[in-house]
Amino acid sequence: MSDRHRLLVIVGTTRPDRAAEHLIPWVMRRTGEDDRFDAELVDLRDWPLPMFQETIETVGDFNDPTYSEPIVREWNRKIAEGDAFIFITAEYNHSVPGALKNAIDNVFVSFALRNKPAAFIGYSGGPIAGARAVEHLAHIAIEAEMAPLRNTVLIGGVHQAFGDDDEPVDPLTDAALSITLDDLAWWADALAPARAAGQLPPGTFRMRAAMAAAGA
Ligand SMILES: Cc1cc2nc3c(=O)[nH]c(=O)nc-3n(C[C@H](O)[C@H](O)[C@H](O)COP(=O)(O)O)c2cc1C
Repeated sequence: MSDRHRLLVIVGTTRPDRAAEHLIPWVMRRTGEDDRFDAELVDLRDWPLPMFQETIETVGDFNDPTYSEPIVREWNRKIAEGDAFIFITAEYNHSVPGALKNAIDNVFVSFALRNKPAAFIGYSGGPIAGARAVEHLAHIAIEAEMAPLRNTVLIGGVHQAFGDDDEPVDPLTDAALSITLDDLAWWADALAPARAAGQLPPGTFRMRAAMAAAGA
């Protein structure tokens, strides 16, 4: 059995001719060559998830949720396979693309992202390089009880940022990915055994128990 970390690289935009195509070959080459990870591309184009619609009724059994549609169940199972995550995100209206937010919302009551490290690669057509989307995404990751990393890869002017060889024009872009992957491996090394040793119940469950005890 491999002791590499199972790395899921989630691509957060889906539209035709998306600029994400500039990044994907480079990110998958770099993560594929990294012997600390078994990397898998998880492209939201391949996951036509419904707009989030889960309720207590659609979840059914919390220990084995059925969800509103089979794809939601498959999505939660796919996410549960990962023990390290890279989110590739564009910036849409100063935040994450709706498709990506919806995909994270659909990781529902499985807690499949919990206590796992999250790294971010942001990009945009202009000079902001997806920085605002990454800031929002880090907050979203906290709510999913992930461990979001400080070091990120930010790519401005994305349409000019890669050469014909699919490599970044600016060597610092590649350096930023190396730093991010080092952090991701470090956190994955730390958190995988910590999860295996036993996890606290999710914060929402503990708060509900505290409210019940307080008669609230
Ligand atoms: C709906 C929408 C909103 C956008 N909002 C921003 C923005 O707030 N800041 C920014 O720098 N670029 C913004 N852009 C430009 C995108 O960064 C650029 O189009 C990028 O290529 C989008 O990624 P994609 O091609 O993979 O979808 C926006 C683009 C779209 C389509």
